[in-house]
Amino acid sequence: MNKIFKITTAAALMMAVAVPVMSSEIADSVSIFAYKMEQGKGGLRMAWDDNGTWRPIGQGDGYELVKSDFGSWGSGKKMYDPVVFRTPNGWRLLWWVSDSHQTVASADSPDLFNWTPQRYADRSEAAKFMEPSIVRARDAMATVNGKEYSGSMIKLSRPEFMDLCSYAFHRVAAEQRNDERVTADTLYPDLHKTVRLTAKRNHKPTVKVSPHLFGIFFEDINYGADGGLYAELVQNRDFEYMKGEGGGNWGPAYAWSLTEAGKPVELTIVTADPIHANNSHYITIPEATAARQLVNTGYDGITVRKGVDYRLSMFVRTPDGRPVRLSVELVKGKRVIGSAQMTVNGTGWQKVETTMKAKAAVSGAELRITIPKGAACDMDMISLFPSDTWKGRVNGLRADMMSALDSIHPRFVRFPGGCVAHGNGVDNIYDWKGSVGPLEARKPLRNLWGYHQTRGLGYYEFFVMCEDLGAEPLPVLAAGVPCQNSSWKSHHSVNELTSCGQQGGIPMDEMPAYIQDVLDLIEYANGPADSKWGSVRAKAGHPESFNLKFIGIGNEDLISEEFEKRFEMIYDAVTKTYPDIKVVGTVGPFYEGSDYDEGWRFARSLNVPLVDEHYYVTPGWLINNRGYYDSYPRGGTDVYLGEYASHIPGRKSNIETALSVALYLTDVERNSDVVKMTSYAPLFAKKNHTQWNPDMIYFDNDKVSPATDYYVQKLFGANQGDEYLPMDLQFDTANPAAARRIGYSAMRDSRTGDVILKMANLLPAKVTVDQEYRGIARRSTLSGTPTDGQVEPVTVTENIEGPVTLPPYSLTVLRFKK
Ligand code: AHR
Repeated sequence: MNKIFKITTAAALMMAVAVPVMSSEIADSVSIFAYKMEQGKGGLRMAWDDNGTWRPIGQGDGYELVKSDFGSWGSGKKMYDPVVFRTPNGWRLLWWVSDSHQTVASADSPDLFNWTPQRYADRSEAAKFMEPSIVRARDAMATVNGKEYSGSMIKLSRPEFMDLCSYAFHRVAAEQRNDERVTADTLYPDLHKTVRLTAKRNHKPTVKVSPHLFGIFFEDINYGADGGLYAELVQNRDFEYMKGEGGGNWGPAYAWSLTEAGKPVELTIVTADPIHANNSHYITIPEATAARQLVNTGYDGITVRKGVDYRLSMFVRTPDGRPVRLSVELVKGKRVIGSAQMTVNGTGWQKVETTMKAKAAVSGAELRITIPKGAACDMDMISLFPSDTWKGRVNGLRADMMSALDSIHPRFVRFPGGCVAHGNGVDNIYDWKGSVGPLEARKPLRNLWGYHQTRGLGYYEFFVMCEDLGAEPLPVLAAGVPCQNSSWKSHHSVNELTSCGQQGGIPMDEMPAYIQDVLDLIEYANGPADSKWGSVRAKAGHPESFNLKFIGIGNEDLISEEFEKRFEMIYDAVTKTYPDIKVVGTVGPFYEGSDYDEGWRFARSLNVPLVDEHYYVTPGWLINNRGYYDSYPRGGTDVYLGEYASHIPGRKSNIETALSVALYLTDVERNSDVVKMTSYAPLFAKKNHTQWNPDMIYFDNDKVSPATDYYVQKLFGANQGDEYLPMDLQFDTANPAAARRIGYSAMRDSRTGDVILKMANLLPAKVTVDQEYRGIARRSTLSGTPTDGQVEPVTVTENIEGPVTLPPYSLTVLRFKK
């Protein structure tokens, strides 16, 4: 370590904030040493002085009380040289977010375990985190568990110390509970005994169930849209792939190749006089003495189905207006599966189209365009769609994938994310206007999951998709801030603070224009066909309103001052201009913590109708937090559980993950007077192109393979009632761990009179349910051993005349027909 580096440690942080040292002595106090085990990595821990021996607070190396939230995902978040101070209201923690010591982070706490959302300041402004009354901690060295660390020394009163220890103790215990795995059940013989559950309708009134309880979350992650649901078969159709996308090796020529007389030649991609400024790159093919063949490899090849018509379209321009005859073919090696000819006449960019009928079914085909010798032309927007898209829509969606969604009966669709909505840096925020209008004029966008968005599946297609599914659209727009995990140098400013990590946010002088964009989206969806944005919708083929009712503002953001300022501005404008639109706010990425606490406080202070909660948790969390919503206040801000899933090591979807979700959903249904919407996330994943697992529906070019979790969503989605029937549940087991593994929910569908029972059994033993409903029922059972993946439910019709037996590890849905 060199000398310059040495002085930029904890002492430098003190110097940067320039406060006087004061002494603080507390009677009957305990000395606490606040430290980090490694520079950068990990969070703040504490140890207490046990008669000269420093003992970590919490198990093992001690509980990490605070982690830095600054920087890109995961290892990008660092904490250097933390110092803890006593303040008039409690405690303040300061640390550097990088070893270049340019940005200081600050968080406050009344007790050292509840912390405010973090704030950040440039080194030159670090003093703003200090007040004269702050008592500076002493720099110190101490040995904890045999290793010496530097840190800060503070004093706690006995009660403060006891509270801190008790907090750490409870956290460790909760984490252990949340690690509960059903794969370990063989170790607990007590769980293997058959349990009898008696479920009796009590006298509590029925609860009105939200009509939007089960919906879907759509994001272009894992090739969910381009290369996935969006049925376009040509990859990089517009030559707009950018350098840096696709892990670095993509660019305007990606997925294309050109040969002349059979020999490879370089593609010439130019930008002069393009079809549209948003789509500036195109290929130019100069005159030559031999024919040229331009080939596109599609997304992992092109899957062609026998007998289906494939529509090819492109924009072509010839330099002198001489007619050019182009041959187009679908080929696999030397085999031609479909072909057509097209002629370009005239000058200027022209759209030409043709259809090829597939003579055979093949996977891994390519599109080949032959330009005859002597001809020259420019080409762009070379596009190929099957004619049998979902509902036969032009520029449509894959029918097999849509059919899987349709079977869930989703009551709403969220779009375009997820993180895609708020973007990796301000410049990457999903601007909805760039995703509508003629395809050749749409603005492609760098996909924060490492690839490229053509935005051919843009806002128009999203609204039409919702209509086709009979689902409410739920667009989610950035709250004027990008993702708090944005990567280094992704913003337009240059210093460390705004060029990386923390949000930054749209500059205040640009906020009015951004707010107008948000309002314009509502006009685009609902405005009359002769309004400014309604007319854009009408021109696209939909003069009628899309009847938008919800709009999400923000996606699991850091609830910072930047966020709150901008959210409030947007919220005020939307509620004033469109009082009937329900705004959905956000409370950070976890089920607890500083963003969750501050997010809820803030949302309630503004009377936001709903907030979007996110949590990806372990099966053990779902088993042990079944009462999570029972104590949520009713009658104010409601919950949209917008992203959730059960995660196990290896991130697979199997019986364990699916049933733990099913169990928890029976509790969500019980709380459907406060939880009004839910959507499992993410939705789609293309095999070999996943950035995130598990996902609900896996697919490749040939087929759709729903994960086990999909069937839980399908069983709950297809069996939504509108009246929850409160029950008294009695278990004949004295083991609470066994009772926690059994979920029961009863609903009625008042339109049909059907009664629907959903019963989850996460035990390795049978459960017998004494319940009062009798008669013919459709019974769907999803069951297996915990590690089974790709399990499908079995549905039969049965006459239920008495108790119902639930197999071990199962979800049973009984639907009694009125
Ligand atoms: O669902 C995948 C990602 O998880 C979403 O994009 C983001 O909101 C969350 O972190």
